[in-house]
Amino acid sequence: MCGIFGCVLKDGKAAPIIHAALKRLEYRGYDSVGEATIYNGKLYIKKDRGKIEEVDKIHNLDDLPGNIGVGHTRWATHGAPLQVNAHPHLDCSEQIAIVHNGIIENFAELKLELENRGHVFKSKTDTEVAAHLIEEILKTNPSLSLADAVLEAVKRLDGSYALAVISPKEPNKMICARHESPLVVGINEKAIYCASDIPAFLPLTNKAVIIDDGELVTLSLEGFEIRKIADSSLVVREPKFIDWTPEMAVKQGYPHFMLKEIHEQPATLRNTLRLQEQYLDLMATFLDRAREVYLVACGTSYHACLAASYMFSKLAFLATYPVIASEFVEQHGKSVNIDSAILAVSQSGETADTLAAVNCARQRAATILGLTNVIGSTLTRVSRVYIGQQSGPEIGVAATKTFTSQLSVLAQLALRLAKKRGKISQDEMDYLAEKMEKLPDTVETIIQTQEENVKQIAKKYKDAKTFFFLGRGISTATAYEGRLKLMEIAYVPAIAFPAGESKHGPISLIEQGFPVVFICPKDETHKTIVGNIMEMKARGALIIAVIEKDDEEIKSLADDWIEMPKGIPEVLSPIPYIIPLQLLAYYMAVERGHNPDMPRNLAKSVTVK
Ligand code: M6R
Repeated sequence: MCGIFGCVLKDGKAAPIIHAALKRLEYRGYDSVGEATIYNGKLYIKKDRGKIEEVDKIHNLDDLPGNIGVGHTRWATHGAPLQVNAHPHLDCSEQIAIVHNGIIENFAELKLELENRGHVFKSKTDTEVAAHLIEEILKTNPSLSLADAVLEAVKRLDGSYALAVISPKEPNKMICARHESPLVVGINEKAIYCASDIPAFLPLTNKAVIIDDGELVTLSLEGFEIRKIADSSLVVREPKFIDWTPEMAVKQGYPHFMLKEIHEQPATLRNTLRLQEQYLDLMATFLDRAREVYLVACGTSYHACLAASYMFSKLAFLATYPVIASEFVEQHGKSVNIDSAILAVSQSGETADTLAAVNCARQRAATILGLTNVIGSTLTRVSRVYIGQQSGPEIGVAATKTFTSQLSVLAQLALRLAKKRGKISQDEMDYLAEKMEKLPDTVETIIQTQEENVKQIAKKYKDAKTFFFLGRGISTATAYEGRLKLMEIAYVPAIAFPAGESKHGPISLIEQGFPVVFICPKDETHKTIVGNIMEMKARGALIIAVIEKDDEEIKSLADDWIEMPKGIPEVLSPIPYIIPLQLLAYYMAVERGHNPDMPRNLAKSVTVK
């Protein structure tokens, strides 16, 4: 996730307006920033790595001439956060400046094609190909307008984009286009703006036009013209009046970041399906080669590792050790060696316990692999290979989209490894790949159909003193994660364990009215979990079951249930099945009067041991 902004002003300098707008978009990404303006037939550009204020101190971002310009605040996906990779990006002749939010999947092929035609690239980003592609199209068809050249260029892009392009060749115009990344236009009598999000221009205007997927929009002082990318046909759309306060706007109208981030998961899951294949392959090769594999992380990231250990075992027949990072040195420090691989999973890439485990393993010459949300973090710097979880900044302290994105990456990795090791048939591979592709829609359906139901369940149980969260097999990881969410933001003490453990001790806690959440997909564990539900029910527990749609057997035993779509493969089930538990924790916190975004005593990133 990055933030883009652009403006065309009747009077005055664009740069200070862009700078202020980028500050309001900083929640979308903050590892690099840049601006480009046009003045007297020339492009002016300032960009660097670092937070906006840091870059401004060095470069004085307001000090660019011209009344038209674009800006970008970055959350790296391709290419580390370095000055050269910061946006805007230019073509060879420095006549085109572009800012982009999204992921261009086919950038490697396009880059090769353009390099063969003599284009010289400066950055490691996917975005730069778009600048060179537009240049190439204009070179071969000099009579094309900038808008038509951008239209032709975006037709060749696979992936997601919201982009804004300016050129001194047409110094009064800005061309923007959108596919699967947000883009809005703001308008008042003095200027026209484009942005990733409404908060960027909300203090300047509350008249906004939402640009849809597959549309290209030309901005100028005469107004805006929207066209469909597919056939160039004109689209007529009136601006809407936005009555949000600036605080509501940053949360896109949601009352809390956590709820916004829960709802973002269909989009973030779509992003994780756009991973670069070569990194998955490389990582799978290292996992395959290792004598033993440790999956090391804390909190939610550890729960993702726990679920992943089932995926690696079931799909690739690879035994892995999921380890809580703060225990790694004591538990495995001495046994790690040159033949070990450590896959460290950390949203922030800066968690002290995870880095300490990595450090210990590095000193013993183990191979370090990383999965993180922050490209450029310490974890990416110490890893032999790293993969980005592609979920954009997560502001709520409770990790939500982190869990589902990490699991989507880990599932893809397990599938790669299964293929490499010849442990999976082509049919099975195709079946799972197809189900993975559908996960974003599945998650969307769950949110749409179950949110109100979960809200009512939270109301009913809001005064409960304790909860159990139980699952079997891979759903044990879902149970642990559901319990962590409830504890950390709603402050309800809760216990999670594999359901088979109940009769080895914990069942003695059960008395009349004790709420027990069961995670029960229709997989191989279904029959036994029915038995576990019965034994709890017989002792007076109240059963809240997360079930597959129309699971009448469990419905007849449960007091409340949450229905999930049918046909979710067992190995992928933690991704959709965690969604109602995130919502349950959220609504329980709200019902109990707590702010879910700022749980007491917790920090987003724990950088001390
Ligand atoms: O940044 P990391 O993924 O390394 O963070 C790990 C944990 O600190 C984190 O998941 C924490 O448990 C969250 N509060 C969970 O919601």
